[in-house]
Order: sequence, then C-alpha cells, then structure tokens
Amino acid sequence: MSPRLGALLVAVFFASAVTAGCEDKPPPPPPAPPAASASAAPSSSASPAPGGSGSKVAAPPLPATPLALPELKVPADNDLTPAKVALGKQLFFDKRLSKDFTSSCETCHAPEKGWSDGRPLTQKVGGATNTRHTPSLFNVGYGQAFGWDGRSDTLEKEVATQWTTQMGAELPTITASIAKIPGYATQLKAVFGGDPTPEMIVKAIAAYVRTIRSGGSPWDRFEKGEKRAVGEDAQRGFELFKGKASCTQCHAPPLYTDDAFHNLGVGFDKPDRDLGRGKVASDDKLNGAFKTPSLRSISTHPPYLHDGRALSLEQAVDVMLAGGIKEKNKGLDPKVKPIKLTSKEKDDLLAFLKSLEATVAVERPRLP
Ligand code: HEC
Ligand code: HEC
Repeated sequence: MSPRLGALLVAVFFASAVTAGCEDKPPPPPPAPPAASASAAPSSSASPAPGGSGSKVAAPPLPATPLALPELKVPADNDLTPAKVALGKQLFFDKRLSKDFTSSCETCHAPEKGWSDGRPLTQKVGGATNTRHTPSLFNVGYGQAFGWDGRSDTLEKEVATQWTTQMGAELPTITASIAKIPGYATQLKAVFGGDPTPEMIVKAIAAYVRTIRSGGSPWDRFEKGEKRAVGEDAQRGFELFKGKASCTQCHAPPLYTDDAFHNLGVGFDKPDRDLGRGKVASDDKLNGAFKTPSLRSISTHPPYLHDGRALSLEQAVDVMLAGGIKEKNKGLDPKVKPIKLTSKEKDDLLAFLKSLEATVAVERPRLP
C-alpha cells in the first residue's frame, strides 16, 4: 500500500506542532500559524480539529520551517512524511508504550512545560530517580549527538534508549501489543509495510520529535526588520549576550547552541560526580562536560542545568556569569570566565533570553 493511500486511511488526529512565525519558503501549505503574538497558551485538548470531526482525513501537512531556523536534515532511512509524523505523534502521547501504562514520552516531555517536565529530577517507570534533568525537545532534531552527554549519535538510537530506560519497556512485547490495536496496525502497515517492529515505532516517534521546533520568536522577527517586536531592554541584552558576556561562544545563533560539550563544573561540587561526556568518550579531559543546551524558548522550561539545580532562568544565568563552578573542578572550560554585570544589565540579558520564546500551539492527538 502506498504511503499516500495510507495517509488517507489514518484516523483523525490533530496536526503536528503548529509553529508561529513566517516561513522561509513556501513548500507544502503550512497549517495556519497563530497570530504573531508571543502569548498563546498551548491548547490541551483531544478535541476534534475544525471541520474534521470523527471522519477519516489525510494526515496534516508537515509544518513549515519556522522563521530563522535552518532546513532540517533527516536521515536517508527515516524520511519525514505527514503520515509517519502523525503516527509518531500518537505514539509519543500514548501511555500504552510503557510497561505499566503509566507513562508516555509526554509524561516527562510535555508541550506546556517547554517539552520538559518542570521538575529538577524525575522518576522513571519502576521508581528509580533519574540523575539528570529532563531536557527540552525543542529543536532537538538539529543535533548531532543526543542526551546530555551525547551518547547517541542518532535521534533514533536515543528514542529507543528513552523508550526502554525511562518507560521500562521491553520493546518487542510492547510492539506486539501496540500492533494489536487496529488503528495502529493500519497506520504501521501504511507507513512502513510488513510486520510491525520496534524499529518502526522508534522511527515514527523520531520523525515526530523532529517536528518539535521553536523559531519565529519576537527576537527573530526583530532581526528580520520588525523593529517593535522586542523592547530596548532585549536589544541591549543581545549586545551583552554577544559582547561583554560572550555567551555566543557556546550559545551560537541560529540555534543558540554549538552542539558541543563543555565543563562548567555543574555537578562536580557534589560527592557523586557525573562524568558526562568524559565517560561516553573515554576521555578524561572531557570529564564533567555536558552538551550546550539551545536557548530557544528557554524561558518555557525551568528548572535548568543537567542536574536541575537552577530553579529559575536567573539562577542558570548566574552560574554562567560566575564563570561556572571551580570548586573541586580542575577541568573548567577556559571559555567560561566570570563576568560582572550590573543588575540592570542582567535584567537586559534576561529580557533578551525571554525574547527567544516562540508561540507554539500543540494539540494532543486522538489515540486509536
Ligand atoms: C521518566 C521521564 C522520561 C520519559 C518518560 C522520557 N524521557 Fe526523554 N529524557 C528524560 C531524561 C531525564 C533525559 C536526559 C537523559 C540523559 O541525558 O542522561 C531525556 C532525554 C531525551 C532526549 C535527548 C535530548 C537531547 O537534548 O539530547 C530525547 C530525544 C528524548 N528524551 C526523547 C524521549 C522520547 C521520544 C520519549 C518517549 C519514548 C521519552 N524521551 C521519554 C526523561 C524522560
Ligand atoms: C563555554 C561554553 C558556554 C558559555 C560561554 C556559556 N554557556 Fe550557557 N551553558 C553551557 C553548557 C555546557 C550548559 C549546560 C551545563 C550543564 O548543565 O552541565 C549551559 C547552560 C545554560 C543555561 C541552562 C540551559 C538549560 O536548558 O538547562 C542557560 C540559561 C545558559 N547556559 C545561558 C548562558 C548565558 C546567558 C551565557 C553568557 C553569560 C552562557 N550561557 C555562556 C555552555 C556555555
């Protein structure tokens, strides 16, 4: 069966993340973006899409690239198609993917919490507590290495790891039970053909995760010439961000990350050290190094830092301005230096960071 036909058979569910902002280019007609204001609360309903109540409709088109973001590169063996993304979205939100039906990906990566969970550290299915804070999934599809320590070199590997370790899932068993749900059976067949495998589920979820993007923020609109999109405080904050505070060394636009690993000493002041990248790369020089998080929509997902210690954005910025943590840490990255800002300058810097918040409305899918 062709994917196109499959798409037509897909039961109704509601479109992938609709991202605010204009598009760089025109490809498939994007879902209507919400008004260019920065305040829409994510809607949290499983209610039918306008005009589509209960009927069978084609999967919604892929969301267009948000303003200021680069084109997404996807692996040759996992192309993005509307039907696959729609299937992945349902799976992402479905607790039947966990061992005891208590948790979906959304349990820890919730759209209204900036695709994180609002807690410093969270329990996995089974009760063990994670030693690292749940990262946001915004723009994760642009990365080269996944996890705070970059242990997975593809998003697909990381999704499989997450599904197994966070949700207590024995993948073949859960796949077999998912494949018994008629709505999933039809879609899996339409999208991938053949008998359902865990890889198919992983690929569909990874495809959906790639569509979770944040761009078209007030700051992006300002840079495109919309002079009133941000206040003067944010404009001064950007000058500090790239100038005196030199945050751009690591949080480089357009994604506001260098996708690299740096030791800022976070966690090294605790008895139980997390070696981070050093352990994965078997390189002592990288002990205590963690991936630079993107700062797009950063204000939407406190707490911060890989151990969740910074309860507010201001606290996270304070750690950066202090030049990281030197206590019990010999490997501090030489790029981080203590920087003295006045309290007014700090407010400006925070205003700039807040101006990177984009309006992203997400509707929950209807599950089969
Ligand atoms: C119980 C909470 C929990 C659940 C459920 C969960 N995650 Fe995560 N997720 C985390 C934590 C914690 C990390 C950071 C792990 C690390 O780096 O050691 C993470 C990391 C990730 C990353 C890497 C992000 C990055 O910046 O590199 C991706 C991608 C991801 N999760 C996707 C998923 C998907 C997809 C699901 C569902 C299959 C899922 N997660 C379920 C807590 C969770
Ligand atoms: C040497 C590279 C580097 C520089 C310079 C740097 N950062 Fe960071 N930043 C990082 C890394 C790495 C992390 C994650 C550290 C961790 O959790 O272990 C981080 C974390 C953050 C976080 C928390 C993100 C999250 O999702 O938890 C914020 C906010 C932040 N940085 C803002 C800034 C600001 C503002 C500046 C300039 C004053 C700055 N950074 C300078 C590398 C850097």
